Amino acid sequence: MKHLLGLEGLSAAQLTKLLDSAERFAGVGVGDVPKGDALKGKVVVNLFYEPSTRTRMSFGLAARRLGADVLDFSPGGSSTAKGESFIDTAKNIEAMGIDAVVVRHSSPGAPHVLAKALKPHVRVVNAGDGAHEHPTQALLDILTIRKKLGRVAGLTVGLVGDIAHSRVARSNIYGLVALGAKVIVCGPTTLVPPEVARLGVKIADKLDDVIPQCDVLNLLRVQFERQRSGLFPSIREYRLLFGVDADRMKRAKPNVLLLAPGPINRGVEISPDVADGPNSAILDQVTNGLAVRMAVLNAVCAAA
Ligand code: NCD
Repeated sequence: MKHLLGLEGLSAAQLTKLLDSAERFAGVGVGDVPKGDALKGKVVVNLFYEPSTRTRMSFGLAARRLGADVLDFSPGGSSTAKGESFIDTAKNIEAMGIDAVVVRHSSPGAPHVLAKALKPHVRVVNAGDGAHEHPTQALLDILTIRKKLGRVAGLTVGLVGDIAHSRVARSNIYGLVALGAKVIVCGPTTLVPPEVARLGVKIADKLDDVIPQCDVLNLLRVQFERQRSGLFPSIREYRLLFGVDADRMKRAKPNVLLLAPGPINRGVEISPDVADGPNSAILDQVTNGLAVRMAVLNAVCAAA
């Protein structure tokens, strides 16, 4: 694998190989387990044009645990403020001698543009491009499902919320469908584009009907920053129809696995007691994210 630009088009075998590799990387560089050296002497650049906590920090830590040097770019305080373009910025950082770029940008396709613009030996990993894809988030969601429930094929996964603006939803759909899960998307009709059915998922608008069918519920944040105004009436109404609280959990299977990519809006898509409750794997997802990012950096850099 040269780049990881998205999960679209990846086969079950390719996805499984990455997930297996992530399981092997879990714990590397922690306690008694020594750090790896697969990326020794390599330079990995975190090129983040949008805010991030988990993704950015875990990519940085993953690269360091594999022995790489890490450069961290954010537009605030950089020459972006003086008008330097995305490609000029990337090419100038590339001129320092780099091996991989982890990029997050509000424009869908920015990682693809970078993969074409940079020298052939430079690897590109998509850390979220607009509302398009967020492949490592979906891989860590799927790894969490696999570790907690023992399999992915045959499970029913509910993706709940702002499907239209969610790169997490799109990457989850590609990955889960390829691995044989049944996916139901559920959210306000203004936030669920009908075309999504073409990706092999079922669309439902009543969360109370969806919940009892699900082995996994992935609760997506409403992406206010990507929306035109007026796509839904109020946060209160959203909570009433699509928020998961203790009352709604009574309709769920007792062992339903609750995921959320974070950041969570406590009291909107999920109530605090449920977010911190026994079915929640939200912090396990973060732990698994580190292992997934080690596996992905290793996979793309090994092809160098
Ligand atoms: C997600 C993102 O940035 O797309 N967050 C993340 O990477 N953990 C989801 C979100 O912002 O809601």
